[in-house]
Amino acid sequence: MSTVIKGGTIVTADLTYKADVKIEGERIAEIGPDLSGDTVLDAAECFVMPGGIDPHVHLEMPFMGTYSSDDFESGTRAALSGGTTMVVDFCLPSPGQSLIEALSMWDNKSGRAHCDYSYHMAITWWGEQVFDEMETVVKEKGINTFKHFMAYKGALMVQDDEMYASFQRCAELGAMPMVHAENGDVVADLSAKLLAAGNNGPEAHAYSRPPQVEGEATNRAIMIADMAGVPLYVVHTSCEDSHEAIRRARQQGKRVYGEPLIQHLTLDESEYFDKDWDHAARRVMSPPFRNKAHQDSLWAGLQAGSLQVVATDHCAFTTDQKRTGMGDFTKIPNGTGGLEDRMPMLWTYGVATGRLTMNEFVAVTSTNIAKILNVYPKKGAILVGADADIVVWDPEKEKTISAKTQQSAIDYNVFEGKKVKGLPRFTLSRGKVAVSDGDMVSEEGHGKFVAREPFQAVGKALSTWKELTAPRKVERTGIPASGV
Ligand code: URP
Ligand code: ZN
Ligand code: ZN
Ligand code: ZN
Repeated sequence: MSTVIKGGTIVTADLTYKADVKIEGERIAEIGPDLSGDTVLDAAECFVMPGGIDPHVHLEMPFMGTYSSDDFESGTRAALSGGTTMVVDFCLPSPGQSLIEALSMWDNKSGRAHCDYSYHMAITWWGEQVFDEMETVVKEKGINTFKHFMAYKGALMVQDDEMYASFQRCAELGAMPMVHAENGDVVADLSAKLLAAGNNGPEAHAYSRPPQVEGEATNRAIMIADMAGVPLYVVHTSCEDSHEAIRRARQQGKRVYGEPLIQHLTLDESEYFDKDWDHAARRVMSPPFRNKAHQDSLWAGLQAGSLQVVATDHCAFTTDQKRTGMGDFTKIPNGTGGLEDRMPMLWTYGVATGRLTMNEFVAVTSTNIAKILNVYPKKGAILVGADADIVVWDPEKEKTISAKTQQSAIDYNVFEGKKVKGLPRFTLSRGKVAVSDGDMVSEEGHGKFVAREPFQAVGKALSTWKELTAPRKVERTGIPASGV
């Protein structure tokens, strides 16, 4: 059985040209003029692009006393609906928990995925067991990225000595560390002071996490990565302070990547002020939305190449879940949705406005991250042999974003009422049509785990735990898998 995508214009990260695409099974078999096949998908007036890759999602994640409400079923359905064909979730071990055991918990959840997925492993505690298991994670489990939270003090936050040790281990294994860069100590102090002064509403969340906490942590992580001799990926870069650190590091020859979110690019801090409690709380996430000057910096970074990827950090909580933080903003579950809207929003606010070219759009939604995560050209490419993860993009198709019509399981949408122009006509997941003329025809359980090979190791060998100075033991409570 073959499928031909006919009459469209192929748009990749570097080329724009008219050709048909023939798919056999799960892969692209041929690209050229006048192809024929068993099934024909009409791509007239459309752009044929690599499906989107969202490298930052939290599906059914135990966090802040609850679980994020989109699971691998609804989350990946939402992804495909908006043209995204692969997501990367974060596996979060509890303190003391084996990384391998945590992975099997994640495998139990991800079996329902409609599209392909992969995992980053989070370093949520540190010890000899973690040191040893990191090798299994990289060499046997197909995971080459380790996430470090510099915020969420008392829960997920790692200390600098732990981070330095883990980064060195990454260097040796050919893995790449990632950081959530916010100074968790300062955030905790500002939060306590705001609460003590009676500022308990959602707007205080923004006051507790000014751009400086992000800039400081980004600089610190960059320097620690440099000393460990390893590249670094900074997730949810939201402001000029961290973008400037990334830009400077890259200019100095350090291999550092930055990932703005579609939310930070298109929504600003006014979402928190003079708004009703629910409106503001639904938009509580870390880092918070910033002012227009920071947004301009992020857009400029995407144009200049100092920022490489647009993600969502999709971590969706219902209004009821958000309301558990009424009277204490530090208890509002942190996170917003965006998985379904990332591509249409970026097209509308990026390509249609002239800020990004179509090729840059493909680069920042798919190809760049496929290369960074070492899955290119299996993913992120329209090439013979690549997985047929493809979006047939209709630049004239319009809709108004609404929670009423979304795939996501939550009861609101942070982009509610925004008009987007540019939507999938078809989305294909490994050759299977998942969205057909706007209708969902995807299949639960079709998604497969995508293993990612290690990078060429760059660090000096640290083959035993004893070669590292064992960092002090840090007590943590309130950790994810326990549901606290
Ligand atoms: O507020 C956020 N970003 N929630 C999800 C967890 C994280 O920090 O990425
Ligand atoms: Zn984060
Ligand atoms: Zn996140
Ligand atoms: Zn299938």
